[in-house]
Amino acid sequence: MPDTRGSIHGQWSSRFVFILAAVGSAVGLGNIWKFPYITGENGGGAFVVVYLVCIALIGVPIMMAEILIGRRGRRSPINTMRALVAEEKAHPAWRWLGWLGVVTGFLILSYYSVVAGWALAYVFRAGAGLFTGADAGAVSTLFGALLDSPESMLAWHTIFMVMTMAVVARGVRGGLERAVTLLMPALFVLLVILVFYALYEGDFARGAAFLFSPDFDKVFQHCEVEAGVKSCRFSGEPLLIALGHAFFTLSLGMGAIMVYGSYMPGNASIARATLTIVVADTVAALLAGLAIFPIVFANGLEPASGPGLIFQTLPIAFGAMTGGHLFGTLFFVLLVFAAWTSAISLIEPAVAWLVENRGMARVPAALAVGATAWVLGIGSVLSFNLWSGESFQLFGKTWFDLIDYLTANILLPLGGLLIALFAGWVMSRASSCSELRMGDGVGYRTWRFLVRYVSPWLVVIVFLNAIGLI
Ligand code: TRP
Repeated sequence: MPDTRGSIHGQWSSRFVFILAAVGSAVGLGNIWKFPYITGENGGGAFVVVYLVCIALIGVPIMMAEILIGRRGRRSPINTMRALVAEEKAHPAWRWLGWLGVVTGFLILSYYSVVAGWALAYVFRAGAGLFTGADAGAVSTLFGALLDSPESMLAWHTIFMVMTMAVVARGVRGGLERAVTLLMPALFVLLVILVFYALYEGDFARGAAFLFSPDFDKVFQHCEVEAGVKSCRFSGEPLLIALGHAFFTLSLGMGAIMVYGSYMPGNASIARATLTIVVADTVAALLAGLAIFPIVFANGLEPASGPGLIFQTLPIAFGAMTGGHLFGTLFFVLLVFAAWTSAISLIEPAVAWLVENRGMARVPAALAVGATAWVLGIGSVLSFNLWSGESFQLFGKTWFDLIDYLTANILLPLGGLLIALFAGWVMSRASSCSELRMGDGVGYRTWRFLVRYVSPWLVVIVFLNAIGLI
């Protein structure tokens, strides 16, 4: 296929804009909300090491695979897979990969929007000065009050979903591009300011040690005391959580990066773009960790306190620091923007498909997709209040926990595995080599080796291990 083809949905104005959009998709609640809380729940440093290994050996090659598939297909992931199946004369079942991604995107957005709603609520709390001088107890009470109110959570969830639909409705250039160019750099600046605050006012030594000094036993040994006898066994569950989070934080495994890749200018280097995106995403997560854990330890908070972690720690910092009123408000504004630029990438594959196959205009397509995710999100809203009881749980998990677990730890690794297999084994060497535009040198060969042998096997091993088969 010639390099001059474009997507019917338009194209990013430059390689730089593609990178910004992809960084906008990657950097979101996953970095600032989820990474700190799952690191806290999984014992710290050793978990971070496993996560970084997953990013390097699985995230990088699979991101390149996803972009290259998208750019070669130049359509929504569903039609891209259809086109490449024809081009490579592959088995038609590969077309289901596009559908898997669309479903996963709906499920993720449904709860993502609820958490983004918390961030939205916090913009106004910070703005109203509610954190000024607040201690850990007061801040926890505030968070609890939000969770206890289905009405207000539903309202914030609704507002966030409307914001997401509004941007997606405007299309690639008008909507997506504009939103990311200014906001991403501002978020990084604010994260650095917060790290400085944590350095001077928090227990930085303990926070940094928690993040960076790995204690593998603490993470992977699960000990139980039964009848006075303590027994420990190896548990692979944190491995699966780290793997799943590597996909989640890089927006991989469901076609978001694939659809963004389909709008990428033909001559841009996929490898270089990937490295930039991955480094930016990792730096954002580590900065968030360095801002949060020193505050956690300085205030005697529990690192393993779960999804509420940043909402119960950062307000304390803002409440105590000079200018905290302003910085706090600004921080939550930027967190909302980070979530916003991620959320749009979660529904773009489905919207692009509706436009291509159902002949819909972008506006009704965005409305239809957003409304579906909104309805699914009601289950997540209720998971924190009316449906939090045991009678509403399955495997000891609420709806919110279930959707999170199913998408991040199962569907994304599965989608990523299939993407790696498709790019590494199904696509011909000639197609992948020419699409990557890096020549047939060491770089290309390393990528092909990783995507054929290393990434797929690691995903399979971690997976079998977590479900107890090995
Ligand atoms: N990566 C985003 C975050 O860290 C979330 C996200 C956006 C995502 N698009 C995705 C996750 C696609 C998985 C797949 O917040």
